[in-house]
Amino acid sequence: MQSLQAETRLVVSGRDTAAQKGFVNPPVVHGSTVLYPTADDLHAHRGEFQYGRHGTPTTRALQDALMALEGPQCAGVGLVPSGLSAISTALLSVLKAGDHVLVCDNVYRPTRNFCNGLLARYGIETTYFDPLIGADIARLFRPNTRVVMVEAPGSQSFEMPDVPAVAAVAHAHGALVIDDNTWATPLFRRALEQGVDISIQAATKYIGGHSDIMFGTISANAKAWPALAETIRLLGVCAGPDDVFLALRGLRTLAVRLAHHQQSAIDMAQWLAARPEVAKVLHPALASDPGHAIWKRDFTGASGLFSIVLKPAPQAAVDALLDTVKLFGMGYSWGGFESLVIPYDCTDYRSATAWAPGGPTLRLHIGLESLSDLKADLDRGFAAFNAARSV
Ligand SMILES: Cc1ncc(COP(=O)(O)O)c(C=O)c1O
Repeated sequence: MQSLQAETRLVVSGRDTAAQKGFVNPPVVHGSTVLYPTADDLHAHRGEFQYGRHGTPTTRALQDALMALEGPQCAGVGLVPSGLSAISTALLSVLKAGDHVLVCDNVYRPTRNFCNGLLARYGIETTYFDPLIGADIARLFRPNTRVVMVEAPGSQSFEMPDVPAVAAVAHAHGALVIDDNTWATPLFRRALEQGVDISIQAATKYIGGHSDIMFGTISANAKAWPALAETIRLLGVCAGPDDVFLALRGLRTLAVRLAHHQQSAIDMAQWLAARPEVAKVLHPALASDPGHAIWKRDFTGASGLFSIVLKPAPQAAVDALLDTVKLFGMGYSWGGFESLVIPYDCTDYRSATAWAPGGPTLRLHIGLESLSDLKADLDRGFAAFNAARSV
């Protein structure tokens, strides 16, 4: 399977045509009870499937397809009901009371909430670090540091950590690395081959791809998988069969969708960089971006999510833009077929680094619509922005 290109693996993996009675897709198995044919089988817990929560032919198909995508370093994939539960389950699989965790300052905000809330309550201390720290992270390690958590790039501010450099230091200190790889997906970045031990996906985003599921996946290497598998079992987390099926269906078209998102987003980012209202574009695939060299080294593509910093303007002008655009919806998830825009401000929760972009910030998701329609929509939005700014 690994000799095939990723696009092909996305299509052919996780398909057992004979077991599927000739159908291309697996059945959606809604199931709790699995019957054992004999008392001997029952006593020995023998059988490919033993209980609905522990796996079904549908979950197996998705896990096989994800393993084929992640590459040979992947020893197992856990399926959970959301991206956030993928993050929390991964952290819980490694940490125990009295441990210390290092978390990148640009992570998804609910990741911080989990660390500051539940982990703190269980006696686990978190230290946040500058996303650009690189190998200098060594000075933050303590004897009880067990995990480094990164997100590359951060899905709002787009700073790009040097994950292989951080991972080398983490491993030298006996710690594991957990990475939120949702922005690139394993198609554009094989995190497990870059020193990451557990790579999570908010599959709600690009893997689902249609804004119609909440879903999370956790891919682990051989070192991390046994504890992760046990934690999933102990917590009792599992994913609903329809969402598993939709995640697998989304995975089949991931390559074509991401190629389109990538191309449109880069075009749009360049168009925006040339606009007089825009002070800065935060997109690691642009040569002007500070994270570009790392992106070129570690990634094989870019997805459709990036941010812009507007020239200083009152909130009313930003709101006029947001209220004028029609093709860009305002909503907090991303990775679906539709374009989105959302204002954001990291000022009040960044703790290791100051967030001072110099103007209002917007995060854009470039969907699968026609670029000319999207640009015309933003043109109207900027006209409203300028009119409100000059009042
Ligand atoms: C980078 C990142 N990670 C994780 C999540 C959490 O995913 P979910 O909404 O499926 O819990 C999100 C959601 O926006 C995200 O943007």
